[in-house]
Amino acid sequence: MDLKSHIDPLNIPKHVAIIMDGNGRWAKKQGEDRIFGHYEGVNSVREIVEACGEIGVKFLTLYAFSTENWNRPKEEVDALMELLVNTIAMETPNLNKKGVKLKVIGDTDSLPAGCQNELQESITATKDNDRVTLILALSYSSKWEITNAVKQIARQVAEGKLDPKDIQSKHIEANLCTCEWPDPELMIRTSGEHRISNFLLWQLAYAEFYFTDTLWPEFRKQDFFKAILSYQKRERRFGQTSEQLSTSSHS
Ligand code: FPP
Repeated sequence: MDLKSHIDPLNIPKHVAIIMDGNGRWAKKQGEDRIFGHYEGVNSVREIVEACGEIGVKFLTLYAFSTENWNRPKEEVDALMELLVNTIAMETPNLNKKGVKLKVIGDTDSLPAGCQNELQESITATKDNDRVTLILALSYSSKWEITNAVKQIARQVAEGKLDPKDIQSKHIEANLCTCEWPDPELMIRTSGEHRISNFLLWQLAYAEFYFTDTLWPEFRKQDFFKAILSYQKRERRFGQTSEQLSTSSHS
């Protein structure tokens, strides 16, 4: 079935966030090393970025490497970093062709120098694209991000630039790595895990969650369109009642 044709073009989430999970399990099922799953996962990334462009999702945030992932075996971390560098270098012309702007969130100073350089080159090379913004969360965790935001706000208070009684949620938002983008309306996690794993804790406050058993290397365009269709069936109430929503949509 052609799922794309069933998608309502007037109700596309602007921002989708994805926890790409299950690469290791997928590789094991094939009798291969875990890293083989990460390599195949790159093909899913390419398809999903393309799918966003096709249906008009403007921002896509992918959880590619968490601060906790540094605790994985050194060979896997090294292989993942190498994969990232090579993929970014190889894919930049393709990102430009498809109108994709690359951005990164996370503690990027902790990434190997080669990785930081490659990222910076691709960010600069794609900065004028405006079809889709691809945000890679790298060495990212939400608790790290919120802690940083609190430190910056505390500094403003210490310098007398901000009175604690004036602190509102907008001050916290302004100090998050995601301050220039709208919050995701939809968060997808693959591989059957039902956790948020320190990902965009603040930004996902009102997001719809979509969980699928499909492992990331097998999650392709049709699976993404299925998630979008599921999102389009949800009623987003933001704390209001159904009746209030139907009254305001008729007025
Ligand atoms: C989770 O699966 C996946 C990761 C920690 C890495 C995801 C990275 C990629 C798909 C490569 C991304 C590349 C670019 C350019 C964005 P897992 O290893 O935790 O799987 P498991 O739960 O089955 O062990």
